[in-house]
Amino acid sequence: MSATKTPNESKSDPASKTPVVPAPSASFYDKRYTRRDTFWIVAGWSAFTASVAVGTGLMGRFMFPNVSYEPPQSFKLGFPADFPTGIDERFKAKYNVWIAKGYDPSTKKTGFFALSTVCTHLGCTPNWLLAESKFKCPCHGSGFQPTGVNFEGPAPRPLERFAIRLADDGQIFVDKSRKFQQEKGEWANPDSFLEYSLA
Ligand code: FES
Repeated sequence: MSATKTPNESKSDPASKTPVVPAPSASFYDKRYTRRDTFWIVAGWSAFTASVAVGTGLMGRFMFPNVSYEPPQSFKLGFPADFPTGIDERFKAKYNVWIAKGYDPSTKKTGFFALSTVCTHLGCTPNWLLAESKFKCPCHGSGFQPTGVNFEGPAPRPLERFAIRLADDGQIFVDKSRKFQQEKGEWANPDSFLEYSLA
């Protein structure tokens, strides 16, 4: 068996044909940039990319600082004797709560309860109308009695109450993380009302 190719075999062997695409020659780029140049180019871009990433991160911290502006959920409001009888509006803006002091026809108790300032219709903030002795929502006209019970307009249920008690130092302490809904019978929970003698 001979490995010698005949002229015809040589003609039909694809490997023996002249390549259609010429072998690549050194390009202008290859000639211009040595491996050392390439190293520094890559290093430079890496440093630039890293600095942009760090700068973007710092800008993000500046634009969106990790600070919470949510008002606290629990707080002391002062001593019982310092509260006027009726609806106290001093804490409406800061804590979104009214403090009511007096007799509560809903629970038939005397003392304090904390009412949410969020209308139970669509969440607007009602106003306390002293002359009419009611809360009135400016958005769609819902009205609430001083107890928080709804009696006019589209509000489907009473205002919510928050947990209230005396702190160790004798101040009124409200905890908004615990709410009580009248329609669920939760106003009967003793934590929703601070009994206190007004005598
Ligand atoms: S949001 Fe208060 S009545 Fe609609």
